[in-house]
Amino acid sequence: MWCQSETGDLRNKQDLEDLFSQTDFDAVIHFAGLKAVGESVANPRRYFDNNLIGTINLYEIMAKYNCKKMVFSSSATVYGQPEKIPCVEDFQLMAMNPYGRTKLFLEEIARDIQKAEPEWRIILLRYFNPVGAHESGRIGEDPKGIPNNLMPYIQQVAVGRLPELNVYGHDYPTRDGSAIRDYIHVMDLADGHIAALRKLFTTEDIGCTAYNLGTGCGTSVLEMVAAFEKASGKKIPIKLCPRRPGDATEVFASTEKAENELGWKAKYGVEEMCRDQWNWASNNPWGYQPEP
Ligand code: UD1
Repeated sequence: MWCQSETGDLRNKQDLEDLFSQTDFDAVIHFAGLKAVGESVANPRRYFDNNLIGTINLYEIMAKYNCKKMVFSSSATVYGQPEKIPCVEDFQLMAMNPYGRTKLFLEEIARDIQKAEPEWRIILLRYFNPVGAHESGRIGEDPKGIPNNLMPYIQQVAVGRLPELNVYGHDYPTRDGSAIRDYIHVMDLADGHIAALRKLFTTEDIGCTAYNLGTGCGTSVLEMVAAFEKASGKKIPIKLCPRRPGDATEVFASTEKAENELGWKAKYGVEEMCRDQWNWASNNPWGYQPEP
């Protein structure tokens, strides 16, 4: 973990050397990465440079300083277009875009490193769709530019920054025609990391193991809009649009492995996710920026 006041770049080995030479770390939770699918298609080298090179450097310095416990942020994107749902950790993996490929490659790299040097203990956490905000309403997501993801977009419509939500796809074979995802509250996601860290320290033969972090419940785009309208008391105007290329119909997690082996289970439902996201949005309509 980066020390509070310090910033650095994983691609700069000297930054890592400076950090690891100052402090003895027992483990690393590695969240740093770019995650916009469209941007990765337009500029794959940026994704390979940042996500791959940065992580490879991190493994190198961790090995040098004999810190060999890692919790890595992977993504449900490694399931691609899943043939079956719920997604189970031992499904065949597939990437559909350069961003997804960086997550898939980094999972493979982790497995190779651990196989070659069995003293490593690595947990790969496959996040489903993280949403919501800290309960205080003071910490939340603040994407730059027009949001790509559903919830930040809904939030900006609710505070009047955007006029309406484009609903991508209303002819999916689902209960209301819109696509289904497994949304998970960021506070549950955070707890999942603590559980993973605990597992690393208590399980000598963990090797390199992947766990889904999801709720196991699927929610459609239209259901999410309705839940946010209820939580915020705001009307979210929608426009029904064609499907977004590359989107899967329905994705949700099998939660059994995380429940059984990490002793972790998501506590919050869509109602709390929307409540906390609205609390953040209504207190900070322009995110961390001052109102323009
Ligand atoms: C996306 C990425 C995934 C990444 C995750 C990061 C794709 C194909 N997948 O997941 O790899 O790990 O973000 O959080 O981009 N939607 C609308 N209107 C909008 C925005 C989204 O209808 O303005 C719909 C989408 O079509 C989709 C659902 O909402 O059906 C969720 O979309 P999004 O929040 O972008 O997440 P994913 O696509 O599931």
